[in-house]
Amino acid sequence: MTATPIEALLSRRSAKLVGAPGPDAEQLDLILRAGMTAPDHGRAQPWRFTLIEGPAIVEFGEFVVRAQEAAGQPMPEQKINTMRSWLAQAPLLLALACHLNPEDKRFPEQERILAAGAAVTQMLNAAHILGFGAFWSTGLGTYLPAVQQELGYTEPEHRLLGFMSIGTPLRAMPSPMRPDPATFIRRWPQA
Ligand SMILES: Cc1cc2nc3c(=O)[nH]c(=O)nc-3n(C[C@H](O)[C@H](O)[C@H](O)COP(=O)(O)O)c2cc1C
Repeated sequence: MTATPIEALLSRRSAKLVGAPGPDAEQLDLILRAGMTAPDHGRAQPWRFTLIEGPAIVEFGEFVVRAQEAAGQPMPEQKINTMRSWLAQAPLLLALACHLNPEDKRFPEQERILAAGAAVTQMLNAAHILGFGAFWSTGLGTYLPAVQQELGYTEPEHRLLGFMSIGTPLRAMPSPMRPDPATFIRRWPQA
């Protein structure tokens, strides 16, 4: 990518449908190191990631289908098909979690969740800057206790924040229109 850093940042967009190649070991290390640069109150370092690679990605998808069924929330066939074709091609899937560490009462829980979310965003940015497509999803049974248990991210100790797929975008995607920041801005004191 031959953009200036700010151009690279402003051109980030999600890409769900990705295939091989995924990041190699060095590129994955850079993506994870970008996560470590997230702002973090009290050095809580609350971000946690589980790498799911290769055939394990498809296996994990099938586990989710069974977990949804067992929870009495079966996925519609169309959704299963979409999920299967997404996962069949994705070279890398990360489970994203926050260590809530409820014994640590120094600051409110939300500060850990925000720091973990900021780490995920830094990783999305890094993947994009390295030329990969990445996508944050709270599909794949994020809110199902059986999925949280399988990954070892159960409450009250942890919270599962979703999944990130990373790979080479399968099709060129136009940059989406981004909103005018003025829409979201107020001034204080008001004029
Ligand atoms: C916490 C979180 C969870 C998300 N979960 C989903 C999801 O399950 N399915 C989905 O289609 N998009 C989901 N998204 C949205 C996509 O990751 C992506 O941000 C969206 O498609 C907009 O694309 P953009 O990032 O290029 O603006 C989620 C986003 C966030 C922040």
